[in-house]
Amino acid sequence: MTPALEAHDLYRFYHVGDEETLALRGVSLSISAGETVAVIGPSGSGKSTLINCLAGLDDPDGGWVMVSGHRITRRPQRDQSRLRARHVGILLQSRNLQDHLTIGENMFAALFLAGNLGGRTYIHAALEAVGLLGRAEAFPDQLSGGELARASLAVALVNDPTVLLADEPTAEVDAENEGALLGLLVDRARGGCATVIVTHSAAVAAVADRVLNLIDGRLDGA
Ligand SMILES: Nc1ncnc2c1ncn2[C@@H]1O[C@H](COP(=O)(O)OP(=O)(O)OP(=O)(O)O)[C@@H](O)[C@H]1O
Ligand SMILES: [Mg+2]
Repeated sequence: MTPALEAHDLYRFYHVGDEETLALRGVSLSISAGETVAVIGPSGSGKSTLINCLAGLDDPDGGWVMVSGHRITRRPQRDQSRLRARHVGILLQSRNLQDHLTIGENMFAALFLAGNLGGRTYIHAALEAVGLLGRAEAFPDQLSGGELARASLAVALVNDPTVLLADEPTAEVDAENEGALLGLLVDRARGGCATVIVTHSAAVAAVADRVLNLIDGRLDGA
């Protein structure tokens, strides 16, 4: 079976002046539908760089990424955006909601970008799943940190993605909200979504099927 998400030999270098940072040095991974993988590692080890490359938000300097059997690396940005909108739900470390749109409008925008307006009926179900049914009309700055994290997840899930990439989704929430978010992520993974969660939290790593340790841009043991 084609893996839901596959990365082959990813390299990413950053240059600032004379400084070269080797953020990723040959990272390969393969994640099946329904599998939850936690990525742990020290600050600066390349976790967010990896998520950005997997999402097609950044192009690696070497290697490739396949999402649901489609190559997302090194294509015109328009194609990358389209693939991402259709197949990938993303929860970024910096929040991924548009501040000038309400939560409901943010979800609508995600459906629109994926050409999936038929999925409108799913807005209700996604908001209900994250416990924010009454807050569709609220703007992001009118929500608490935990509510924001859950609203971001609702947006990430509204297109029923085959791959969910989450960069420290529970970093800014309390233990209760962390539990609620984790429950939702695990539920979705059981429903067949291949899930990658970058985390510093032992509670998050504990629910994963596999834990990958990224150190200095390399997967430990790989
Ligand atoms: N745009 C950039 N330009 C230059 N260097 C960068 C850039 N983005 C990241 N880096 C560097 O690449 C390395 C990996 O960064 P990355 O953000 O992937 O780390 P991380 O594992 O997500 O860390 P954290 O746990 O703190 O979020 C770091 O040394 C960082 O300083
Ligand atoms: Mg990071």
